[in-house]
Amino acid sequence: MEVPAGSMAVYLLLSCFVATSYGVYFSSLNETLIVTATHAKDQVLKAGEAQITVTWRFNQTYKAGTDSAYKTVKVKLCYAPISQKDRSWRKTEDRLKKDKTCPHKIVARPYAASNNSFTWTIEKDIPTGVYFVRAYALDAQDQEVAYGQTTNGAKSTNLFNVQAITGRHVSLDIASVCFSAFSVVSLAGFFYMEKRKGKASQQK
Ligand SMILES: *[C@@H]1O[C@H](CO)[C@@H](O)[C@H](O)[C@H]1NC(C)=O
Ligand SMILES: *[C@@H]1O[C@H](CO)[C@@H](O)[C@H](O)[C@H]1NC(C)=O
Ligand SMILES: *[C@@H]1O[C@H](CO)[C@@H](O)[C@H](O)[C@H]1NC(C)=O
Repeated sequence: MEVPAGSMAVYLLLSCFVATSYGVYFSSLNETLIVTATHAKDQVLKAGEAQITVTWRFNQTYKAGTDSAYKTVKVKLCYAPISQKDRSWRKTEDRLKKDKTCPHKIVARPYAASNNSFTWTIEKDIPTGVYFVRAYALDAQDQEVAYGQTTNGAKSTNLFNVQAITGRHVSLDIASVCFSAFSVVSLAGFFYMEKRKGKASQQK
């Protein structure tokens, strides 16, 4: 494979950053947040339509002050093991920088110990799959320091199914993107022709 020298340099630079940055391991985090997700029961949730209401709070059985460094909470949609199978690009890695379990951001909010709720319409680009919700508590340096999730440690309970927007919708979306690209190009062409015509008539 040919790699242009420029992008190689960028890649090396990035690898250096990743290598030197402080690595946080999921297994080192405590599950101090209680996270729930409510949605329509016993049915497949449709991307672009269905809603999930996520709530999160500090688990009071942990000592008061355990959460003193928490600054932000980042809530994410995560793949259950069955939707990761044979898909290395969704692989779970203990080192969070490399972890691909939770690629879809739902919301980020300043940390509060209680009364947190957010209703999310499942975004149109979410693929069909089996999911759960996880929230990370981040400190002032944006490092993960704790988490909570709607499922158990084995990621086998309280999972839900999302169905992607059907192929027809997707191809319609693609068609409309192509169409607007076409309009821009033809408009530009039209102006160019008009300008040339204008110049040609001035020269007469
Ligand atoms: C998790 O909890 C243990 C025991 O309370 C504590 O020693 C440890 O520092 C905590 N880990 C993190 C990342 O806060
Ligand atoms: C709160 O944390 C304790 C200790 O880890 C745990 O046993 C308990 O199940 C948690 N509570 C909830 C509601 O998750
Ligand atoms: C949580 O919300 C309820 C109802 O809105 C309110 O009465 C309560 O004081 C709030 N608690 C905190 C800790 O903000």
